[in-house]
Amino acid sequence: MIFFEILFIVFVICIFLFFIKFFLSFWGVFLILTQNQYILNMKKILVTGGTGFIGSHTTVELIQKGYEVVIVDNLSNSNINVIDNIEKITNKRPIFGKVDVADKNQLFNFLDNHKDIESIIHFAASKAVGESVEKPLKYYSNNINGVINILEAMKHFGIKNMVFSSSCTVYGQPEQLPVTENSPIQPATSPYGNTKQINEEIIRDFVAANPDFHCIALRYFNPIGSHPSSLIGELPIGVPANLIPYITQTAAGIRECLSVFGNDYDTPDGTPIRDYIDIIDLANAHIAAINRMEDNKQKKNLEFFNIGTGNGLTVLQLINTFEEATGVKLNYKIVGRRAGDIEKIWADASFANSELGWKAVVPLKQTLLNAWNWQKRCANIE
Ligand code: UFG
Repeated sequence: MIFFEILFIVFVICIFLFFIKFFLSFWGVFLILTQNQYILNMKKILVTGGTGFIGSHTTVELIQKGYEVVIVDNLSNSNINVIDNIEKITNKRPIFGKVDVADKNQLFNFLDNHKDIESIIHFAASKAVGESVEKPLKYYSNNINGVINILEAMKHFGIKNMVFSSSCTVYGQPEQLPVTENSPIQPATSPYGNTKQINEEIIRDFVAANPDFHCIALRYFNPIGSHPSSLIGELPIGVPANLIPYITQTAAGIRECLSVFGNDYDTPDGTPIRDYIDIIDLANAHIAAINRMEDNKQKKNLEFFNIGTGNGLTVLQLINTFEEATGVKLNYKIVGRRAGDIEKIWADASFANSELGWKAVVPLKQTLLNAWNWQKRCANIE
């Protein structure tokens, strides 16, 4: 009798295990199917200049939000290792093509193999204000041809949406602060700034003639910081022209002393005011813009948004915040004004906040700490 009871219990256990195994196999198949479905639904985005500072951070955020990213970059101001590091952060490797967008043949040949791209984020451009004064033709050639080729590619390959990388430089020195998207566009103070204004006008004429196409131009204020992983960040070649890389390189001992360009401006401590925006916040503004176009929420087929925090900081306030955030004392001196600098600008970002549903959220101290951690990693500092 006992023997039959044991046999029965073993039988019941076997049946139970069989059902568990059956359920797990079914679950596995279900997961594979849904994952494939997910892969099938991934939207493909072309990111030009995707190995650069803003492009690489935007690529990371796009991948993490389920997009498939195709990068084109001519690597003139960036390093191919950035692709490896994007993969380390996201566990996904973006497709990469070494392409100069200012060369129409290169761009079209590449896109011939990627006909399922739905949107473009166009970063690729030359961006050093000082260099643009010395080499204006380089800037007009790269930045104007780049946009024309991208727009022609949109038409040729039927890519309907584009986010364009513009700049608050289009406002010059505004008479009223903070600046809104309706503040007057002022004559550019550099060929670089002029290319951004001309680019906006070219896009305006293009969408007027081709109403099926959509564009959002994001006017960035001063992008700073680095990915919290310290795997990607800002990599200026040679002596940095911008404030944050100069600060972090001085803190790391690579530069002896930071020169603060002028303390006789009409600001609380005499140094110029800017609106410093975290790079991850800025990257996310692009995703909000892409979503707006994908969801057909645009009110016009070309829209402009100020992408800033809404807070203006003087150079000295920024230095103090950096010292507080990192505990590092910075060696700096006041020198004369830098030619072409504007006195003060900061954003009214309320239109982006309400319409894009986007807001800058990263605290400034965190941004500066991220920038410092990135610098320490680059310079092998513990
Ligand atoms: N600054 C210094 N010392 C430095 C570098 C900068 O004091 O070594 C000061 C500048 O005078 C300015 C502030 O730090 O007051 C910010 O200067 P950045 O060079 O970092 O940035 P800009 O505001 O001059 O320029 C930035 C972008 C441009 C863009 C412009 C729009 O670099 O691409 O904002 O206003 F066009």
